[in-house]
Amino acid sequence: MNDPTRAAGGKDAKTAARAIEPITSGKPVGPCTVVIFGAGGDLTKRKLIPAIYNLQRENLLSNEFAVVGFARAPMADDGYREKLDAEIKKFATSEVTGEQWKWLRERIYYCQADFNEPGAFEKLGETLKKVDAERGTRGNVLFYLATAPEFFGDVVRKLQAAKLTQQTGGFRRVIVEKPFGRDLDSARALNKELLGLLEENQIYRIDHYLGKETVQNIMVFRFANGIFEPIWNRRYVDHVQITVAETVGVETRGDYYDKSGALRDMVPNHIFQLISLVGMEPPISFDADSVRDEQAKVLRALQPMTPEEVLQRTVRGQYGEGMVCNKKVASYRREPKVAPDSRTETYVAMKLNIDNWRWTGVPFYLRVGKAMAKRFTEIAITFKRPPFTLFRDTPIDRLTPNQLVINVQPDEGISLGFGAKVPGATVRLGGVQMDFRYADQFGSTPSTGYERLLYDAMAGDATLFQRADMVEAGWKVVAPVLDVWNSLPPRTFPNYAAGSAGPREADELLAKDQRAWRAIDG
Ligand code: BG6
Repeated sequence: MNDPTRAAGGKDAKTAARAIEPITSGKPVGPCTVVIFGAGGDLTKRKLIPAIYNLQRENLLSNEFAVVGFARAPMADDGYREKLDAEIKKFATSEVTGEQWKWLRERIYYCQADFNEPGAFEKLGETLKKVDAERGTRGNVLFYLATAPEFFGDVVRKLQAAKLTQQTGGFRRVIVEKPFGRDLDSARALNKELLGLLEENQIYRIDHYLGKETVQNIMVFRFANGIFEPIWNRRYVDHVQITVAETVGVETRGDYYDKSGALRDMVPNHIFQLISLVGMEPPISFDADSVRDEQAKVLRALQPMTPEEVLQRTVRGQYGEGMVCNKKVASYRREPKVAPDSRTETYVAMKLNIDNWRWTGVPFYLRVGKAMAKRFTEIAITFKRPPFTLFRDTPIDRLTPNQLVINVQPDEGISLGFGAKVPGATVRLGGVQMDFRYADQFGSTPSTGYERLLYDAMAGDATLFQRADMVEAGWKVVAPVLDVWNSLPPRTFPNYAAGSAGPREADELLAKDQRAWRAIDG
């Protein structure tokens, strides 16, 4: 719970209390049924049901609300509810109280069907009619495709054939999970297929990074404050580093991951969302298209690399055995469902340029990796050094330059590093840091990261969802890298130990530019 008496660093209760007063407060969304395809899967139990539960706790759902789980396993409504009884206890991010869970539980239904069988979608249609009659959801339906990606097109085609996407008696929207395609051609084909069946404004391409508070805060930080925008450009910024380091390996997802790899898994989606929010121009308003127009411009300005540049500006890695958080970890090639001679990368680093007036000449370095020394996601903006004259005799060049670091997770916050005079009779400079931590200021929020996205999709606000052109612009940048990597298989895999900071070549990538990565300490 928020504690308004807790202040930043616990020093000034009044300041903190003022800061946590919300500027806008959420109101419940209108009546709606959420249909989940893949209702027996991991995403449903770990994220979707706990997120819906959190929305209910925050009073953000309508009384006329229902969930329909659609899956193959033979079960009735009661059986599905019992399964969720056990799962919600395990995966809820907030306290599960009898009364609140009861409210949601009785609004959860199950439709047992295999979407490859004839009649499956007619059965779903009947279920929706029944649920609507019982719950008064007024024909509004949000379909969530939490299935394997190869079924996205198929499910939507069948929904349309069964007339379930027709918006005559209420809205019909579809949330499509990632991955959205596995390259430019397949993403285009999927967009084409979906846009042949639905209007763009019925399609919600989800990227769960946009559900993170710290990611949503990037726009607020930049555009609701007057002091950062004037320095947010090539005149003042030296370079930007984006790191997504994970300690986990591929866990049970070897099957998917070995065909995907770190580049496809993280870069054209999550990382490019971060780049677009950091790099965008101020939108003329916060409506969905104004924001996404600006994001799309950044993605289009990302320069696709020539084959020569791919060789010089990208690094790929795969982990070998090692120790992560004091636990022995086997090499990637020995993970379940991974080929023993796999050439799939579990680490990527690259240097990208945004070719526009704001950013030309400011490199954006990014790195993502599995089985690393530490789990954290951050965006670090390094500013140019000041002119040397004043401090000619002080070792200013040894000081780290000003850095603004957005800690996306797990220690959410923002910190600013700058130089200060070390107390004493002579002028000596030391690096100091000003920190804002969400937990100190606002208390911790029990979130799965999906709450806002589900709420917005029900409310019809697509701002935090990807548009077709954004997805394609992302793949366009990644495509030449995939082409070169496919034609030149890696020579030395594995090339970093699990529990390390990644391959040595990644350090060389920055060293060539007389720069260095921020440390990844275990
Ligand atoms: C998913 C990727 O989209 O994001 C996973 O498929 C990755 O491989 C995950 O682990 C990271 O998400 P988060 O929210 O833990 O940073």
